[in-house]
Amino acid sequence: MPAHSNLSHCGDDSLDSDFELISPSIGQWPHFEPALRLGVMASGNGSNFEGIQKSISSNALDADIQLLVVNNQGCGAEQRAHRLNIPCQVLDHRQFETREGLDHALVKAFLEADVELIVMAGWMRIVTPVLIEAFPNRLLNIHPSLLPSFKGLDAVGQALQASVRISGCTAHLVQADVDTGPVIAQAAVPVLQDDSRASLAARIQSQEHRILPWAIAIAGLNWRQTI
Ligand code: GRF
Repeated sequence: MPAHSNLSHCGDDSLDSDFELISPSIGQWPHFEPALRLGVMASGNGSNFEGIQKSISSNALDADIQLLVVNNQGCGAEQRAHRLNIPCQVLDHRQFETREGLDHALVKAFLEADVELIVMAGWMRIVTPVLIEAFPNRLLNIHPSLLPSFKGLDAVGQALQASVRISGCTAHLVQADVDTGPVIAQAAVPVLQDDSRASLAARIQSQEHRILPWAIAIAGLNWRQTI
């Protein structure tokens, strides 16, 4: 009998469900004077956007969200911005003939809002060098896998399909190729035997809410040290 044939009966992985590993571990938050000026881009629910705002309100992250841009009118992120009193602009990608056209509009909006750092918090569009080169090393993305594994769409489904036993999320600087760029922070979580896409996505997302504000602080510190 092959050694792995009885794998599902070995061990009790429910005991591991609280396992997490964040690197670099969350320590002393840097102080920014004046506060970091952030722009955020979101396409959907907006829980990461609100997570950033919660880190600000709880005085962990020393920042202000100057502007949220959404590409889907009425999406959850836009509704959260209204509730949180954060300026929100809709730039609907369907109104632009090219990806570059949308990115020029994003650059204009964020320059007018005088942001230092931009966070793609669930932005479901491919960005171009127009945006990336306007904010070099100042454009962050959050992705629900341990990059460089499982780039692109449905990263959680890809992880389940591959039967990995550990997955997680990555906050990284954005480069022209999708889901590439220097990693700022990662969190690892276990994949449990009976995980569905929804249960694994929820476990990963609770870690996204922790590492994204922390990665913003790290990237913000790097940025402020260069000016
Ligand atoms: C997150 O899982 C993020 O990793 C991915 O899109 C999702 C956005 O979720 N890029 P939310 O809109 O922040 O709730």
